[in-house]
Amino acid sequence: MENAVANTPQLTDRFGRRVSYVRVSITDRCDLRCLYCMSEDMRFLPRPQILTLEEIHRVCEAFVALGVDKIRITGGEPLVRRGAVDLMAGIARLPGLRELVLSSNGTRLAELAGDIRAAGVRRINISLDSLDPQRFRQLTRVGDLARVLDGIEAALKAGFERIKINAVILRGRNHDEVVSLTRFAIDHGIDISFIEEMPLGHVDGHDRAEEFYSSDAIRRDLEQVFELLPSPETTGGPSRYFRIAGSASRVGFISPHSHNFCGSCNRVRVTAEGRLLLCLGNEHAVELKDVLRAEQASAEALKATIRNAMAIKPERHHFDLEAQPVILRHMNATGG
Ligand code: GTP
Ligand code: 5AD
Ligand code: SF4
Repeated sequence: MENAVANTPQLTDRFGRRVSYVRVSITDRCDLRCLYCMSEDMRFLPRPQILTLEEIHRVCEAFVALGVDKIRITGGEPLVRRGAVDLMAGIARLPGLRELVLSSNGTRLAELAGDIRAAGVRRINISLDSLDPQRFRQLTRVGDLARVLDGIEAALKAGFERIKINAVILRGRNHDEVVSLTRFAIDHGIDISFIEEMPLGHVDGHDRAEEFYSSDAIRRDLEQVFELLPSPETTGGPSRYFRIAGSASRVGFISPHSHNFCGSCNRVRVTAEGRLLLCLGNEHAVELKDVLRAEQASAEALKATIRNAMAIKPERHHFDLEAQPVILRHMNATGG
C-alpha cells in the first residue's frame, strides 16, 4: 500500500483523498494575542528555526509540481514577516497554481492591501470577532479595532476577487454579535464564516468548554433575521455555505465539532518551522526542514518526502473541549 501511495503522480492519501490545497504558515509571530489562539506569555521560535523565504518558496514549488493548485499563506500573522509580499509574488507566479490566497488578522492591510493584490493574491480572509472596540481589545488582548476596519476598507479598494471575514464565536463573549457581524458583511458585499473554537494548545483566561457556541446555534440566531438559502458552493475549504436572500454575501459555518468535514479533506499544512502537518487535529508530521537543508538537497528529494508523507495522513480529527488539549501546538504555529 505504501508503495502504491508513493508512486502516484499526484498527492493521494490512504483513504483516496486527493490533496490539492496547502496552508503555509510563514511565521508563528503575531501582533495580536487572541484568547482562543494564544496564552498571554507566548514564546516564539528563534529565527534560525524558521524556514527562510527562499526555503518556503521551494516548498511551495514542490507542492505545485505535485498537483497542488491552491496555496493559502497564513501565520501567526503572515504580514508581520518582512518580505512576505515579495514571497507571495514569487509563489503566485508558479506555473500550475490556480489560486494564491491569504489569511490575515487585518492589522497591516491598510498599508499593504494594494501591494498584496498586485502580487497576485486572489482572495483574502480577515479575522474579525467583534465590532465593539472594547470587546475587540479583550478578545485580542491588544488589538485596535479601527486599524482592522481600515484594513478591510483598503482590501475592498484593492479589488480582491472575494473577501471573507472569519469570526470565532464564544458564548458570553461575542455570541450576541453574529447578526451585526453578518450585517457588516452584507453592507460591505463580502462573505463571512463562523468558526467553532478548536482545542489547540493550552490557553489561559478562558474556558473552552463553557464558552463553546455551536454553528447550529449561530444559524438559529441568524435565521431570526435573515433568510439563509443552502448553497452547494465550496471554495475547497471546510466551510458549509449559505446564501443570504437579497444580498451578494455568503455565510459559512466551519464546524469541526458539530459537523465533521474530514471525509472531504483535501489539505495539509506546513508550519513556520517546516513541519509538514498531515492534519490540524493530529500530531502526524514529517520534517521538511532537514530535507531542505541537507547537503545534497534536491527538489526531487523534497517531492519524494512529501509524496511519502501522504501515507500517514490521519482519517479524521477528534476534538474534546472538556479534556486538556491533546494537541499542544497553538493555532499560531499552524495558521488555522
Ligand atoms: P477558504 O479558501 O476561503 O474556504 O478558506 P478556509 O476556510 O479553508 O480558510 P481559513 O483560513 O479562512 O480558515 C478558517 C478556519 O477553518 C480556520 O480556523 C481553520 O483552522 C479551519 N480549518 C481549515 N481547514 C481545517 C481542517 O482541515 N480541519 C479543521 N479542524 N479546521 C480547519
Ligand atoms: N479554534 C478555531 N479557530 C481558531 N483560530 C485561531 N485559533 C483558533 C482556535 N483555537 C482562527 C483565527 C482565524 C483562523 C485562521 O483561525 O481566528 O480566523
Ligand atoms: Fe494572531 Fe490569528 Fe492567533 Fe489572533 S488568531 S493571535 S490574529 S494568529
